[in-house]
Amino acid sequence: MNDRIFLSDDELPRAWYNLAADLPGGMLPPLGPDGTPARLEQLAAIFPEELIAQEMCGDRWIDIPEDVRTLLARWRPSPLHRARALEAALGTTARIYYKNESVSPAGSHKPNTAVAQAYYNKRAGVKKLTTETGAGQWGSALAFATALFGLECKVYMVKSSYDQKPYRKMMMQTWGASCVPSPSRETQAGRAMLAEDPACPGSLGIAISEAVEEAVADGSGKTKYALGSVLNHVMLHQTVIGLEAKKQLAKAGEREPDQVIACVGGGSNFAGLAFPYAADKIAGSKVEIIPVEPESCPSLTKGSFLYDLGDVAGMTPLLPMYTLGHKFMPPTMHAGGLRYHGMSPLVSAGLKAGLFSPRAVSQLDCFEAGVVFARSEGIIPAPESSHAIAQVIKEANKATAEGKDTVILCGLSGHGIMDLAGYAAYFAGELSNYALPPEVIARSLACTEAFPRIS
Ligand SMILES: Cc1ncc(COP(=O)(O)O)c(C=O)c1O
Repeated sequence: MNDRIFLSDDELPRAWYNLAADLPGGMLPPLGPDGTPARLEQLAAIFPEELIAQEMCGDRWIDIPEDVRTLLARWRPSPLHRARALEAALGTTARIYYKNESVSPAGSHKPNTAVAQAYYNKRAGVKKLTTETGAGQWGSALAFATALFGLECKVYMVKSSYDQKPYRKMMMQTWGASCVPSPSRETQAGRAMLAEDPACPGSLGIAISEAVEEAVADGSGKTKYALGSVLNHVMLHQTVIGLEAKKQLAKAGEREPDQVIACVGGGSNFAGLAFPYAADKIAGSKVEIIPVEPESCPSLTKGSFLYDLGDVAGMTPLLPMYTLGHKFMPPTMHAGGLRYHGMSPLVSAGLKAGLFSPRAVSQLDCFEAGVVFARSEGIIPAPESSHAIAQVIKEANKATAEGKDTVILCGLSGHGIMDLAGYAAYFAGELSNYALPPEVIARSLACTEAFPRIS
């Protein structure tokens, strides 16, 4: 019996799904520094026109250019697996499926948008892209994509991950990108942070400031910035994941899932898997859609819905999102890609509209779940993806206790072969749990007080 469900090349989606078209209550606009809606020219300094158009677009479907589809077809459609070995290990009555994004050249879902972004930048005459990366998955995805299009690529990698994950840096170099630890001495934002704290471990918020600063400083229009998560166009590009999964479950003769579960950092793999199901939910389906975050960086479960900056230094517009405050310095942990203070405005608006049921999980539960998954299904999950698996295990055990045949669809956003230092620390008993205390959150949100309020 084959428990992997494939689609043909021809079944790779031809259009991305845009949740903004269907969102009850619509979307609030990003705001410029003066508190009025951000203007096109403010965004044009860092993004090419076609991506800005997608960012603002209200259409339900946006065609995927044929050149992008051809490149995605190097590894897509990605397989959907029935996790029969995990089910057996748990002795569960639930049926568990996972969408395997670890099969991409960079090992995660991130190339789905990296290829699209590199394509639109190339068409706009851009020569170089700058970006940030947490765990290194996004940096390596963009390094891969820029290599396909002959673009230069510079990656600011969060220092704590840069030290933990030397092989990610080498992957980027192999694809021709340069990678520096952030905070760095190469930008004003980095130097300011190092002056405050020479031992600063970095954060995605600081690395974004550095990458945007470099793109803006160039001034020629030939250097732009690419973001691996958070923004609407990134969520859009990831929807191939959920659109394929729907076809695959149907092909397997399975009913629609009762639960859709994925981890969230800035929101992109979750959005990719879940937004096509969110459309069903808006139309009346009872599916429960669960974004899973670390309890040490709990923007959705403990943050506030506010206008806040996307980075530490204030280079980005104000975004309407669940946030812990842009100055929040997440504790170092091994799921570097989930160390972000805010959340995608689209995911945030979906939560506000009641479409999602977020959960926070502990670091030790995640590694334990990752090990159970590796020893049953065989794939060593990225520590980020283990957050989804930890929740899947909880839901499967609950289904068993209630005697239910719950159908669970989970996102396996990436493999953890470059994250073995985290697994080693777990086996050595060096990791601990840390639930962010409410008083730290209250203090950290103080930096948003001057921004316009959402009524
Ligand atoms: C494997 C993996 N999963 C999840 C994430 C979190 O990002 P997002 O919420 O945008 O999917 C990352 C980020 O680097 C990642 O590398």
